[in-house]
Amino acid sequence: MNRSVNAAAGGIAVDPPDYVRHRGIIEWVGSVAALTRPDRIVWADGSQEEYDRLCQQMVDAGTMRRLNPAKRPNSYLAWSDPDDVARVEDRTFICSQKQEDAGPTNNWTEPQAMRKTLDGLFDGCMRGRTLYVVPFSMGPLGGSISQIGIQLTDSPYVVVSMQKMTRMGRAVYDVLGTDGRFVPCVHSVGAPLATGQKDVPWPCNKTKYIVHFPETREIWSYGSGYGGNALLGKKCFALRIASTMGRDEGWLAEHMLILGVTSPQGRKYHVAAAFPSACGKTNFAMLIPPAGLAGWKVTTIGDDIAWVKPNADGRWYAINPEAGYFGVAPGTNEKTNKNCMDSLSEDVIFTNVALTDDGDVWWEGMTKEPPAHLIDWRGQDWTPEDGKAGRKAAHPNARFTVSATRNPVLDPDWDSDDGVPIDAFIFGGRRSTTVPLVTEARSWVEGVYMAATMGSETTAAQAGATGVVRRDPFAMLPFCGYNMAEYFGHWLRLGEELGAGAKSTGVPLPRIFCVNWFRTDENGKFIWPGFGDNMRVLEWMIGRIEGRAGGAENVFGVSPRYEDLNWTGLDFPLELYEKIASIDRAAWKKELELHAEHFEKLRNGLPEALKQVKARLEERIAA
Ligand code: GTP
Ligand code: SPV
Ligand code: MN
Repeated sequence: MNRSVNAAAGGIAVDPPDYVRHRGIIEWVGSVAALTRPDRIVWADGSQEEYDRLCQQMVDAGTMRRLNPAKRPNSYLAWSDPDDVARVEDRTFICSQKQEDAGPTNNWTEPQAMRKTLDGLFDGCMRGRTLYVVPFSMGPLGGSISQIGIQLTDSPYVVVSMQKMTRMGRAVYDVLGTDGRFVPCVHSVGAPLATGQKDVPWPCNKTKYIVHFPETREIWSYGSGYGGNALLGKKCFALRIASTMGRDEGWLAEHMLILGVTSPQGRKYHVAAAFPSACGKTNFAMLIPPAGLAGWKVTTIGDDIAWVKPNADGRWYAINPEAGYFGVAPGTNEKTNKNCMDSLSEDVIFTNVALTDDGDVWWEGMTKEPPAHLIDWRGQDWTPEDGKAGRKAAHPNARFTVSATRNPVLDPDWDSDDGVPIDAFIFGGRRSTTVPLVTEARSWVEGVYMAATMGSETTAAQAGATGVVRRDPFAMLPFCGYNMAEYFGHWLRLGEELGAGAKSTGVPLPRIFCVNWFRTDENGKFIWPGFGDNMRVLEWMIGRIEGRAGGAENVFGVSPRYEDLNWTGLDFPLELYEKIASIDRAAWKKELELHAEHFEKLRNGLPEALKQVKARLEERIAA
């Protein structure tokens, strides 16, 4: 078998290890190798020895540097090409057979035409490089909600990152056996090397394509080595492909953190929250309650992605398909997120943060005073004077990659095969105006409406302008693998099915809340203290679930009055609260016009129920 595969691979030895018994995988690796022409093929096994060896190889090549082991043991810093620093949404494609299945929010190209383009781009694109075969499980190995992927990549940075971000390694082949289902993911940085050509520290290509074939469940990514463009288990698989699987199979793949919250009385709840990129998921998932609410405890199940399945017992169970965090560094510090800082004490890969003179890392917001001298993320000298002139030491989308097991508040059930039962969904955008601190939806349909019409100001997580308000329904705008209008329908339908079931099981549907931590004052400063103090809002939500907490009904739903929140230990006067809790009719009239534009764009397949909610809101606002 091997000999014929080797021949098909154009003479390159495919040589699978004995433990790989899946003929489909071996043949597929052979065919990709025949197209991309790597110098060699390496089957990654996920061992520590492999991780250390690849890191050393990248240190030698100048891709990464080892940080001072006394300050940051077993940790590395990589600086990317300045043109390869974030997800490229305009280069991301959903290539379904029919354009209407991708919907108006996704870039679409006819699949045969895209395959032709990719064939051209991938032809010989791994020359001079190694093709790594990276087996990974999204979710616990063999778990009831888990899925398996195999990524072929010519980037060793991706291999070591995948080892932290997923359950990666040879045990995956045992789950697959001889014919198990897997999602094939092909990735190249798109920078072949001619014989004798010297490599650059961060190879990539100006031309980028992040392509999904939802019907055949395939991913092809070309030209980028960064984050969601390149770690294909994350956005490409766990959101875009998985959302399509969920549509077909009756479950959900969401851009959500999952946390456990335990009350002072010892009752435990689970909450899943969708905030757009760089809008506070990692922070909320690791929240430390403020001193005044010390009896509460928050534990992390996931910080970015949730797979949610309705169960026969009438509840929704969620897993975190990932095994690590690829989190935003800037703004993270001992005060805003101590648990995160503690997670980063060792065994971390940092990307695009600054290097200190003693071989450690620094980023904007890490300490109040910046160090007197740094090497910035572009490898240039940097002093606080440069900072004052507006030059950042770390790229705003600089990130850390770390295993979940380093998190001091990791939930004991984070790795549970069947997931945790969800009691509430939270949706929140970054809005300096208009949207109040917290509102509870009065019904499932109103909650879905809130999520479907959510707006948020763009951040550095995506290439392009920042601070622009755009509709980001369910925080899934860049991640939904099919028609967004149909996705709304899927949410409504699952709610109906479980709601109907609830009559026999007695289990109510999860509550839905909408939050906004980001209202600003006249000087552009955040009014709400946020971070740990978000526990006050979470406490109110649990109070609502337990039927204790009061609130007042407004146009959109139910919000806490000042006296309904616990203010112990925080001096936050009523007049400030009114600034973040207020609903301005004129602003909301404008907002509803934006909802109308958004719905117009999504008119094909837009559920009637959402149009009805909108009509009711318009009446209420006009009244
Ligand atoms: P992705 O990993 O990109 O999906 O994003 P995320 O939602 O996990 O983002 P993260 O938690 O890393 O948020 C990063 C940014 O949000 C940083 O700039 C934080 O300072 C800011 N942030 C997080 N929580 C709060 C909050 O409660 N209030 C304010 N004002 N900013 C916050
Ligand atoms: C996001 O942008 O939402 C992320 C980072 O979580 S990336 O994996 O690069 O997409
Ligand atoms: Mn994300």
